[in-house]
Amino acid sequence: MTIDFYWRLPSHGCHGSLRDTAYDRGDWSPTGTRNIAPGLDRNGADDGFRYVDHLGAIAKAAESVGFIGGLIPSFPNTDDPWVISPLLARETKAFRFMIAFQPGFLNPVHAARMSASLQRATGGRTVFNIITGGGGPSQLWWGDSFSHDDRYGRTTEFLDVFKGVWGGEGFSYDGRFYQVRDGGLSPLLAREEIPEIWFSGSSDAALQSAAKHADYYLSWLEPFDQLTDKFARVKERTAALGGEQKCAVRVDLVARPTEEEAWAEVRAGFESLSPERRRQARGGPTDSVGAARQQALKPSEATRYDELIVAPNLWGGFSLLRGGPALGIVGSYEQCAARLEELITRGTDAFILAGTPHLEEAYRVGEEVLPLLGRRESGVLQAAE
Ligand SMILES: Cc1cc2nc3c(=O)[nH]c(=O)nc-3n(C[C@H](O)[C@H](O)[C@H](O)COP(=O)(O)O)c2cc1C
Repeated sequence: MTIDFYWRLPSHGCHGSLRDTAYDRGDWSPTGTRNIAPGLDRNGADDGFRYVDHLGAIAKAAESVGFIGGLIPSFPNTDDPWVISPLLARETKAFRFMIAFQPGFLNPVHAARMSASLQRATGGRTVFNIITGGGGPSQLWWGDSFSHDDRYGRTTEFLDVFKGVWGGEGFSYDGRFYQVRDGGLSPLLAREEIPEIWFSGSSDAALQSAAKHADYYLSWLEPFDQLTDKFARVKERTAALGGEQKCAVRVDLVARPTEEEAWAEVRAGFESLSPERRRQARGGPTDSVGAARQQALKPSEATRYDELIVAPNLWGGFSLLRGGPALGIVGSYEQCAARLEELITRGTDAFILAGTPHLEEAYRVGEEVLPLLGRRESGVLQAAE
């Protein structure tokens, strides 16, 4: 069985360690005290080093230790994945770029043409993480006032059209959100492969849309039993439509030679938090079912890091250290590998892993944890059967 491992490319900035709150990698926040970029040349002028160059270093490191590609998240505070992925493709050889985007913000025909061009230019290295938005103020930030289920309706139609025009000329579509007459990509573009579709969202509407269009259904880490149930439901739904669904998990790791060292790192991160941060609210208003599932796991109050250990090697405080989902894996290299192995046994077909700082941790996880899971073949890791 082949298991694809992706790494995260932190389009939202990167901390130097779990103890740092400053984004001090690259020139993300140039006023930071420890920032080394933008550097100055011998004449005192800007040396031209940009954050995308730092992302390039992470992508190269991840590629060199066997990750097949990198997820580029998309939030109001990130760089734009469509823009930075072709720049990063020039820095790497076969590394794939998973572009996160909300389909509703693009015209599907134009998106298909852009993607086909990107496939042509990069040798087919484009992958999508289809996201449909968390509602509330962050959705309005984008100028999008559609309701939760309408957003998923729009996502489904977007993918109908996206795939339809890729099928070639003479494509017509009459939907609620999109109408196309005699459309279709030119033969030159249509011969490129459609990017693999990864799909995120935990609501019923999301599962329905994923069943129709996703190659991989993607989830944040949840308690293992809960995640197993969710994956089983997704696989069942797709099977009912005559398809086969693969499932993937996106999770942060703190992996160290010994378990004690891994927990010491987490503890140091936790103890560096201000009391306000530790007491932080459970997150802003959202209509996202996935975010609500994560909020239910988030600590409202904790005075010690070990109050947040929810199962062996599972820590529920990651959201305090860096935002995002609550649960992550903490342990020795062997324990981290064992937890990933357990997830594989429970129906996980691929992973997007991450660690802070992303550059050094890409090497560490790639060199110390992934080899424990199986042997490498053609740049893809083959998990032990
Ligand atoms: C692994 C994963 C990655 C995600 N990445 C992003 C992202 O980069 N940007 C974003 O706005 N939402 C992201 N989301 C949020 C979801 O795509 C989705 O918009 C949200 O969960 C609302 O849908 P739901 O109600 O079906 O859960 C991500 C979700 C998951 C599970």
